[in-house]
Amino acid sequence: MITTTVNLTSEFQSIFNTSQTPRTFFAPGRINLIGEHTDYNGGHVFPASISFGTYALSIKRNDQKLRFYSMNFPETGIIESDLSELAYDEKDNWANYPKGMLLYLKEAGHEINQGADILYYGNIPNGAGLSSSASIELATGVLLDGLFNLNIERLAMIQLGKKVENQYIGVNSGIMDQFAIGMGKRDHAILLDCETLNYQYAPIVLNGHAIIIINTNKQRTLAGSKYNERRAQCEQALSELQQELSINSLGDLSPEEFETNKHLIRDETNRKRAKHAVYENARTLLALEKLQQGDLNAFGQLMNESHKSLRDDYEVTGLELNTIAETAWEQEGVLGARMTGAGFGGCAIAVVEKNKIDDFKKNVNSIYREKVGYEATFYIATIGDGAKELTEEC
Ligand code: GLA
Repeated sequence: MITTTVNLTSEFQSIFNTSQTPRTFFAPGRINLIGEHTDYNGGHVFPASISFGTYALSIKRNDQKLRFYSMNFPETGIIESDLSELAYDEKDNWANYPKGMLLYLKEAGHEINQGADILYYGNIPNGAGLSSSASIELATGVLLDGLFNLNIERLAMIQLGKKVENQYIGVNSGIMDQFAIGMGKRDHAILLDCETLNYQYAPIVLNGHAIIIINTNKQRTLAGSKYNERRAQCEQALSELQQELSINSLGDLSPEEFETNKHLIRDETNRKRAKHAVYENARTLLALEKLQQGDLNAFGQLMNESHKSLRDDYEVTGLELNTIAETAWEQEGVLGARMTGAGFGGCAIAVVEKNKIDDFKKNVNSIYREKVGYEATFYIATIGDGAKELTEEC
């Protein structure tokens, strides 16, 4: 992972050939502690924004031009567009994310009449399932809000980010990532009810433990299509349950109600998918309770159960994530470990006693290397604030 010691302001000035000082905005990435694949099923999630994220620096222009540059993709050079050309264009590559935000903000009635030069720099590993795409969406959102004094309501910005993902990019994801990134709070996770959008912050107090992010370094190549397939399977299961039950989402069912009615779901695979969504939702609510009671062991156990359900019933883990989680469970000082995010590669998280972290990394990495053939990467997660303008130059 690249660190942020680079002087982004001078990088901006040199790329865009200007002596003016740009404004700097930041949107984090996120981890999800528990509550996976529950957001689009009307259940609860429990994510937190992390200190890794996307920096966006910008100056308004006097014409209608847009110029985007990412220090993470220098090979694409400066990508040029125009306020009148905001339709999705494959050749614009990663710049479609900011273009999508611009388009939907304008469509929502926000007045953006001048172009801008924007430089992005992200230190979230790309494709690792830590929401680099929602991070770039929200970084663009706060940037445009600040630059053009738009006064965008935060929830509206979050929903526009989701719309970019769903309609502009074409991944049928839920609201968790944009919400976690838009509403994040230092040292807190957010318990979000994805049906009502009611939420509460929960302080993360881990008594001598840290959250370790473990990147499998397996790119999530087929993630989009498999993700959409899981979602469709849950929708099918829901519609069969609705033949007899008056429910809006799988999140409306308790595990007991699910067991009594699961015969309504005809296909066995769809039944397993729905089972995960229902039980995971219940686990998430219980996890908050355990955390609030300071019962970290029980919290960790729920993380482990979450992983098993994602492995056996939702089937979104695979060799890499299973090797990490299952090896982590065997290590001393580990309270719990599970995949985080969509799955199909990407990252896992583990809650590890601070003085056991070195052994943890060494042991997990050596077994991972032996089974998978390449190394995992380990980061300590710090829970930081949500998307905002940075006032000091970085
Ligand atoms: C991705 C999606 C989220 C959520 C998770 C799985 O991160 O963007 O909306 O569905 O997968 O929990």
